[in-house]
Amino acid sequence: MEVATRHTRWSLLSGGYVADMKRILADLSRNGAILLLLLLTACSDDSDQQLDARTSLADAARQAELQVGVAFGNNASAGRRTLAASEFTSITPENAMKWPSLAAAPGAYDFSDADQLVDFALSNGQRIRGHTLFWHRSNGLPSWVRDELEEASDPAARLRELMVDHTARVVGRYAGRIAQWDVINEPLALVSGAFDPENIFYELLGEEYLDMALLEAHAADPSAELFINETFTEFQAEKFDGLLALAQRLLDRGIPLHGIGLQGHFFLRAPDETILRDQLQRIADMGLLSEITELDIPLPLFSERAEPLEGQAQAYADVFDACLAVDLCTGITTWGLDDANTWLDSFVLSAGNAPNRPLLFDQELNAKPAYDSVVEALLR
Ligand code: XIL
Repeated sequence: MEVATRHTRWSLLSGGYVADMKRILADLSRNGAILLLLLLTACSDDSDQQLDARTSLADAARQAELQVGVAFGNNASAGRRTLAASEFTSITPENAMKWPSLAAAPGAYDFSDADQLVDFALSNGQRIRGHTLFWHRSNGLPSWVRDELEEASDPAARLRELMVDHTARVVGRYAGRIAQWDVINEPLALVSGAFDPENIFYELLGEEYLDMALLEAHAADPSAELFINETFTEFQAEKFDGLLALAQRLLDRGIPLHGIGLQGHFFLRAPDETILRDQLQRIADMGLLSEITELDIPLPLFSERAEPLEGQAQAYADVFDACLAVDLCTGITTWGLDDANTWLDSFVLSAGNAPNRPLLFDQELNAKPAYDSVVEALLR
């Protein structure tokens, strides 16, 4: 399968002319800001002024031709909306496009929340990653789906019907507007390369559920890049191998799969740049795109260090460097904007370490050292 590289993809997305103009404007405004800073520092030593002069994360991302995204929701404050709009090139709805968020009952779809986020992102010129169609865990699956299956005379047929309907409605609604879809989320067991036995889709339909979901999603929007998104592969070689073997079987069957998302929840162990780069390269070697889709790196991992924030900054730079080294690694999304709102502070395996402070902005929305280190990595 032919996939455009990160570089050709950017010029396709933005058009060479537009990209050049953006770059020139960014350069101009940066130089202007530096001039302003020189003037200001002549009369004041307030170091906050330096914030005005830095290259924004989004500018750096555009220069590196990498998408840098944030998981986001509509209930965020005005200050957070401004930051999400100005610092990131891509938006992932954190919860708004999950099945239970869209459909409270069979057939009762309400897209208002998801629509608002799509409008928000598009009006800011941002790319959108759709998340996620089929996820059996947490808030991924409505309870009414399970009820329906219990009552159905042929549960497999009923599930297939519900999945086809869901895909057509959701992917169809946003066709041409959502660049990438996490069609399948976390198909495998948490700690092995095999399917999760509690994955209801797998239980009723077998591996073929991925074929069906990907084919239906492709039919609903042939322009969307379709992903399998998986967790905890970054430090489990066996699970990563299982994921690639699954992807290869799909490709061998001619199924439209375009990319693999590695979630990048590094709360058990800090990222290892070499391992991550090798994994991303192995995905690329199969002709598939990759993205780090849900990055967060908790500060308590570095509590032994004299400067934990510096350890976190280095870990963030390692993840960016790994992705930047692989041409088909097209983006990195942080799972949340700032440390006041992170799922890790309530998730059972990480809540004990709260506050996890795993993101690029602190609770007061100040950029952390990790922010500077990723901008630096992008500009290298
Ligand atoms: C999380 C959200 O961040 C929480 O707000 C929600 O309560 C549960 O889901 N893997 C995924 C994401 O693919 O959808 C999850 O998001 C985090 C783990």
